[in-house]
Amino acid sequence: MELAQNRTGSTIPRHDSEPPPAAISATGVERRFRRGRADVHALGPIDLDIAAGEFCCLVGPSGCGKSTFLRLVAGLLRPSAGRLEIRATAPNPAAMIFQDYGIYPWKTVLANVRFGLDVQGVPRKQATKRARDWLSRMGLTDFADAYPASLSGGMRQRVSIARALAVEPEILLMDEPFAALDAQLRTILQEELLAICEADRRTVLFVTHSLEEAIVLGDRVLVMSARPGHVLAERTPPFGRPRSGDVRHSPECAELKAELWDLLRGEIEPAGGGGR
Ligand SMILES: Nc1ncnc2c1ncn2[C@@H]1O[C@H](COP(=O)(O)OP(=O)(O)OP(=O)(O)O)[C@@H](O)[C@H]1O
Ligand SMILES: [Mg+2]
Repeated sequence: MELAQNRTGSTIPRHDSEPPPAAISATGVERRFRRGRADVHALGPIDLDIAAGEFCCLVGPSGCGKSTFLRLVAGLLRPSAGRLEIRATAPNPAAMIFQDYGIYPWKTVLANVRFGLDVQGVPRKQATKRARDWLSRMGLTDFADAYPASLSGGMRQRVSIARALAVEPEILLMDEPFAALDAQLRTILQEELLAICEADRRTVLFVTHSLEEAIVLGDRVLVMSARPGHVLAERTPPFGRPRSGDVRHSPECAELKAELWDLLRGEIEPAGGGGR
């Protein structure tokens, strides 16, 4: 088997006896969009290796291409240049949790959570059981038969998380999944996610605008530049696993947050315009 080359210099050197190779490898990945007659260089070049089982957080200014990168990894978009390799055992290894929930308004909560399992051909009874199990973990048991329109934003986001986790994906792509939630619920779901990932290591790519969230959750935090986004820097939060959300109160967290903010602030355009 061809082993992925260490391109960022950040991961452990690999020898024959040293699996696993990177789950996600990006080499010079770029994405451009046509907007009318203009060509928007949205992302890249991105050079990045993400190890199997690694929880990797992505922070960066608005519009730098974070969602675009997740969509590329999910296979929803193709790179305009470069090479993106996903190494996984299943044919559809990645599940995505979108910034705007991405749940179907015409399906009940239960049917939304069961959706991925139905697509996978999981027998109905088993799929329903697994979906109900995830609804219960997300505190949504009483809303199984409700439609998304009758739920709050936070509840809708929990439906979307339950739907993605129910299919037990090898790679979980989370695009600001907690951004619309109140602070208390956000903290609770961060704890829940930490517990889920500790019980069953998955490769996670997690986009957030919260530096604290990135530090609390991530094995590694990648800082992206302004558009077209590339990886400016990366930091490793100094917390082991298992980890509790309480690390947010530590001086190490405060220190790293300040350091990340220093890296990021130069990339963020002032609100009054004027550019950088
Ligand atoms: N389908 C598309 N067509 C044209 N331009 C697009 C398309 N998708 C994204 N873009 C552009 O690509 C750039 C990156 O967008 P993207 O949504 O990836 O940013 P982001 O980092 O996720 O931002 P945010 O933090 O605000 O969610 C933006 O300039 C955006 O307008
Ligand atoms: Mg986005």
